[in-house]
Amino acid sequence: MRKILLFFAIFGFSLGSSQLCISKTLTFCQYGFNQNLNITSATADWTNPGTLSFIIRSYYLQGIDGLLSVCNARQQFDQCLGDQYDACMSRLNFITDGESPADATAYVSLFKTMEFDCDGGFIQSSRNWGCIAAVLQTHDQQLNDCRKQYDAEILKTPSSLCQASADFETCVRSQYSATCGPEVSWWACERTRRGLLIDSDCPSDSCSLVAQEAPGSAKSVFQREPEVAHVIRSILEQKD
Ligand SMILES: *[C@@H]1O[C@H](CO)[C@@H](O)[C@H](O)[C@H]1NC(C)=O
Repeated sequence: MRKILLFFAIFGFSLGSSQLCISKTLTFCQYGFNQNLNITSATADWTNPGTLSFIIRSYYLQGIDGLLSVCNARQQFDQCLGDQYDACMSRLNFITDGESPADATAYVSLFKTMEFDCDGGFIQSSRNWGCIAAVLQTHDQQLNDCRKQYDAEILKTPSSLCQASADFETCVRSQYSATCGPEVSWWACERTRRGLLIDSDCPSDSCSLVAQEAPGSAKSVFQREPEVAHVIRSILEQKD
């Protein structure tokens, strides 16, 4: 018996990265997520990522409490999926189930963005949320235009994915940098990058602490707040 358990332990471990996403579990966890955010629409899930995205945005605009509500729901969703999380947060999973690539991408992108807002970028999100939420609201049009530009570029030249992604990151970043400073500028770029799901397609795409237009500012951030720099550096290192 012990040998069998050991076999499964090793086998299970080696399969860790190729876990399956069990749709019953995902449905159950999505239901919990929606309940936590008082979402009553029965179709606010991967079949309707636009609805889900709209509701999450409305929480974000409520300020830091809204962010915390979203992060709490996301955390429980993550724990609910457990080691299925990565398998479920994959476009292929939904496409093989018959969803459109556009919906699959929008859904996974939304959760990957929340993951950054609440996990990898949480330190930066939480202490700058007032400014972030203000830009989210006042620069809505410009942020949408950044997206449209990206979509048009990809449509016109599909091979330009990585350049279009970098342009999109720069475009989003520039909406935040003037009002919220270099830390949020990095946050906006990295958040956009995560949402684009380009890790395997554009592995060399990365977000520096400071946009290329403003050399030297990175140094001042590191000098002013060394502990922040340390956190950012660790996050960047984990990413590689
Ligand atoms: C959901 O609704 C309940 C009851 O009205 C309220 O107490 C709770 O704070 C709401 N949750 C969120 C995340 O707004």
